[in-house]
Amino acid sequence: MYVPPEVCSNEDLATVHGMDTSDEWIHQRTGIRERRHAPAGWAAHDMALPACLAALEQANMTADEIDLIVFATLSPKHAFPGDGVYLQRALGLCGDGGTFAPALDVRNQCSGFLYGLSVANAMIGSRAATTVLVVGAEAHSAALDFTTRGRTVASLFGDGAGAVILTEAKPDEGISYVTLGADGRHADELCQKVWDMSRRPYIELDDEGYGRIPPSELWANMDGRTVYRHAVQRMCEVVQRLCSEGGVALEDIERFYFHQANLRINQAVAQRLGIPFDKVPTNIDRYGNTTAATIPLLLAEDTRNGRLQPGMKVACVAFGSGFTWGGALIDWASS
Ligand code: ACO
Repeated sequence: MYVPPEVCSNEDLATVHGMDTSDEWIHQRTGIRERRHAPAGWAAHDMALPACLAALEQANMTADEIDLIVFATLSPKHAFPGDGVYLQRALGLCGDGGTFAPALDVRNQCSGFLYGLSVANAMIGSRAATTVLVVGAEAHSAALDFTTRGRTVASLFGDGAGAVILTEAKPDEGISYVTLGADGRHADELCQKVWDMSRRPYIELDDEGYGRIPPSELWANMDGRTVYRHAVQRMCEVVQRLCSEGGVALEDIERFYFHQANLRINQAVAQRLGIPFDKVPTNIDRYGNTTAATIPLLLAEDTRNGRLQPGMKVACVAFGSGFTWGGALIDWASS
C-alpha cells in the first residue's frame, strides 16, 4: 500500500480550505477524521508504483514476472490512455528487454478492485495469465470542490493506492467464489460527468476555443441518501450470496473487508447480518473513502498488523457508482 504523507484533517477542511464544516459533522455521519492528499504532480499511477513495489517485495518477486496489470481507478491522469500503461512503464516492463506485459484499465469506481480481481482470477483460471498485478489507486484530491458548495463529496474522499499479486493457488487456497453486479438505473446518482461525448463538441467552447465546464459537471454529484440505502442493501445481499453460493457459513468467515464509503454503511451491514464488528476492519477514519484502493489498503494493513493470517477465510465486499457491487470469498494463502 501507499498513502501520500500530507494529512488533511476535518478541521483543515474548515481552516485551510475555508469550507463551512466541522469535525463533529463529518465524523458523526461518516466516521472520517482525516484523509491523505497527494501533492500536485502526482497521479494515481504515481501512488500505485510504490504500492506495487511493496507488493512485489513482499511476494519475493520481480516486476518482470508480472504478465498482466489490472488497474482500477476512477481518477485516471488522462481521459486516455488509462493509468495502467503509465504504471507498466514505471515498472520498467517496456523498452529494451521489457516483457511488454499488457495493462488493462478497470472503470468500476468503488467496486473497481473487486471487478479487477475477478478478471485476474478468470485470466489465471483460463491460463491466459500466470501472475497478475491488481491495483486500486486514486488521486481524488485533484477533482474535489473544496468550497462549501462541494463539502458533501469533498469531505468523504482521500488519495491512496493498494496492490495485490495473484498467482495460481494451491488446492483449497485462494479465491473460491466471486460475485459481481450492477444496476445502471442509478448511473446518474453518483457520477462526475466532466464532459459528454454525445454533444458536438463534447465540451462547450468559448469564443477563443477554450472549454467551459459548469460546476455541476466539473465536480462529482452524489445523491447521498440513495447511495446509502442501496449500499447497505446490496452489500448485505453480496455477503449472503458469498455464503450460499460459496458454500460457507457466515460465522466461519474470519475477516470482512468492506469497502470504506461510510462507517455507518458498514455498521448497518454488520448489524443486519449479525457480524461482530471486530471482524470488520476499518481505516476510513484515517484515509476517508479511497474508492478502488480501500480493500487493498485494508488487506495491506491487516497483513502488516498480523490480523490477516494464511489459512483464514475472508470476504471482500464493495459497492459504488454505477451502481456496481461485488464480492470475493478468499482462503488467504501464504505468499
Ligand atoms: N459539513 C457540514 N455540512 C454538510 C457537509 C459537511 N461536510 N456535507 C453536507 N452538509 C450539509 C448539507 O449541505 C445539507 O445542508 P442543508 O440542509 O442546508 O442543505 C445538510 O448537511 C444535510 O445534507 P445531506 O446530504 O442530506 O446529509 P446526509 O445526512 O444525507 O449525510 C452523507 C450526507 C454523509 C454523504 C450521507 O448521505 C451518506 O453517507 N451517504 C452515503 C454516500 C456515501 O457514503 N458516498 C461515498 C461515496 S459512494 C461509495 O463509495 C459507495
